Amino acid sequence: MIQEQVTPHRQKQMDHRYDAVAKVTGTAQYAAEFTGPFPAKDVTYGYVVQSTIPNGTLLSINADAAEAASGVLAVLTPFNAPKLPVPPPNPPARRNLTVLQDATVSYNGQPIAVVVALSLAQAQYAASLLTIRYKQEPAKLEFRKHLAEARSPKQPGKEPAVNHRGDTTAAFAKASVVVEGTYVTPIQNHNPMEPHSTIAWWEGEKLNLYDSTQAISGVKQSIAKLFQIPVDFVRVQCPYTGGGFGSKGSMWSHVPLAALSARVVGKPVKLVLGREQMFGPVGARPSTVNRIKLGATSDGKLVAMQHDVVMNASVLEDFTEHSAGVTKMLYKSPAVSVTEKLVEQNLGVSTFQRAPGEAPGTAVLETAMDELAIRLNMDPLQLRLINYADTDPSQDRPFTSKNLKVAYQQAAARFGWSKRPTQAGTQIEGNNLIGYGMATATYPANRSAAQAVVRILPGGRAFVGSGTQDLGTGMYTMLAQTCADSLGGLDPATVQVKLGDSTLPKAPVSGGSQSTASVCPAVQDAAAQVILKLSELVALQTASPLFGKGSSELTAKDGRLVAKNNPALADSFASIVQRNGNIPVEAMGSAEKSEGADAYTSQSFGAVFAEVAVDKDTHMVEVRRIVATYDIGTLLNDKTGTNQLEGGIVWGVSFALHEETHIDPVYGRTVNENLAEYHVPVNADIGTLDVTVLNIADTKFNPLGARGIGEIGITGAAAAVGNAIFNATGKRVREFPITPDKIMTA
Ligand code: MOS
Repeated sequence: MIQEQVTPHRQKQMDHRYDAVAKVTGTAQYAAEFTGPFPAKDVTYGYVVQSTIPNGTLLSINADAAEAASGVLAVLTPFNAPKLPVPPPNPPARRNLTVLQDATVSYNGQPIAVVVALSLAQAQYAASLLTIRYKQEPAKLEFRKHLAEARSPKQPGKEPAVNHRGDTTAAFAKASVVVEGTYVTPIQNHNPMEPHSTIAWWEGEKLNLYDSTQAISGVKQSIAKLFQIPVDFVRVQCPYTGGGFGSKGSMWSHVPLAALSARVVGKPVKLVLGREQMFGPVGARPSTVNRIKLGATSDGKLVAMQHDVVMNASVLEDFTEHSAGVTKMLYKSPAVSVTEKLVEQNLGVSTFQRAPGEAPGTAVLETAMDELAIRLNMDPLQLRLINYADTDPSQDRPFTSKNLKVAYQQAAARFGWSKRPTQAGTQIEGNNLIGYGMATATYPANRSAAQAVVRILPGGRAFVGSGTQDLGTGMYTMLAQTCADSLGGLDPATVQVKLGDSTLPKAPVSGGSQSTASVCPAVQDAAAQVILKLSELVALQTASPLFGKGSSELTAKDGRLVAKNNPALADSFASIVQRNGNIPVEAMGSAEKSEGADAYTSQSFGAVFAEVAVDKDTHMVEVRRIVATYDIGTLLNDKTGTNQLEGGIVWGVSFALHEETHIDPVYGRTVNENLAEYHVPVNADIGTLDVTVLNIADTKFNPLGARGIGEIGITGAAAAVGNAIFNATGKRVREFPITPDKIMTA
């Protein structure tokens, strides 16, 4: 049922990404590519040395040979590194960092030294000359064998998503149908194209960083606390981030290690992690083992849902992947019970990864829902419709906007769901078994306080600046479009955009799909104030046709102020600024969450349908096509937005079929710490993607009517593929990724 339909004001869209030319011509500079403002010849290179045991203590590091090697400037170890005023733990950076402050080794791959040299090759070679002695202790590895040791998360602010409503025990006893199973998702490592990289240099007590990050403000505050220097002594710049997916959402050890090294050698230090160094020291999505039980009436009404998840955590720090979170709110079951527990392991710290919680949560819950539909002999889409939640059942409050039913209908029609083979294993083409599957996608719509500045420059062009980040997500484009639109319809291609510099007005971490939803309202606010300032100026400019007009009589249109009651009376931004002595007219804007936001849940939804072909002999799966329709409020830019959703779906296919981090059960090192063996899809793995959005504005959420879209694409997609594999083969694989061996033996 469509809720109140608001016809949204639509921004003029940029046809191409704002940053497209810079990217395709190679002029976009990423953190490690900067050669100034310091003299380029001063740059030195840091190389992080990693532990080779999973648990124990460093006894000694003999660096004599390394220090004598060509080009080496310093070797920092826990035995000689400068002491930080606030040593971890009690991480000021929200992470328990390993920054050479003690000799403890908590996982294999932990940073234990940094070699600084005149070139990267010299630093790497010298690292090979270190003689490292350890006292080794037994390690906690093999998570799956220790599920019984699971405990509740205990670090403050990281409480589990425990939720109970109704009496599940009584409800299960009365249910006509109960399905129950254990569903497993693996450890997954983020693999952005650009590895984590930092250039650090000190100017006296002031620290400068070029850092590949999703959060320049977060890095600035974290490192200021760690070094106990005033926050304003730190400047972080990051005009482009080559992907992050959550792994660059918080500061990891290599950033303070670069800063410490730069202090020791008195020169800029460039520290870039190798691909293999990204498997451990910069976070991973934990593995989740989900026990799910669903009870329903014979006509498909859910009466009880139980979801108990156990995941691996690092001995260093708790992190909860809220995979049971979706179970609380996706369907209107009267009784729900959810628990989340951790098993400590000698592994690197877990962290957010694209759609943290919802990605594995929808993978497992939506597989279980498919099993329930099969048991009921019911169309899986029908089962979702029967249990549709018009309001948020977890918090008993309305959504700002929810149109998932329309999304189900639209995607089902585009996909041809009515032609679905109702009996598994009955649609055959040559040597292939063909199957159709579907699942629900969902992700919360988040918003945080943000600030932006808008200026009208001499000549009449506009400038917009905000200390946000663009991870390839389209933030430059969003700022240009929103600024152009809010100033009364400029050509967005003429707007100058600056982001990724901590001297700009503060914006939140680019995580939780919140950047557009948070920052663009601040741009709107700044633009409105600039228009007001222009109006006040022009009223005093005797040479202007608008001289003496009150600001309420004027409006901005096409780069001019125009009298509302007489469009012939107008004056250009350029003329007003020129008469102002060519001093730019500028205003700061800010935006907070909407008034009364706590009375609602803001959440995006989608419907994902997949068709697969499974080879009868090899059990290789080909995802032929995915059709998905999303309810994400207003889509601000068709190209960047659809691209985000498609990218998420590709990752969902990866979740379904390819990705898995393998930990050596004895040494605790990631075995496949490279992109040859850590499988992600290539173009040939992805069939046709058909992505549509409903474009129904959610103006209760923010003035743009737009909810974030960075993460929802990955949700639901893995289950849709897995459910299609069942439909093709009759084989149910409850452990991701669904590889041919598992289909063969299911
Ligand atoms: Mo996203 S995992 O919230 O950066």
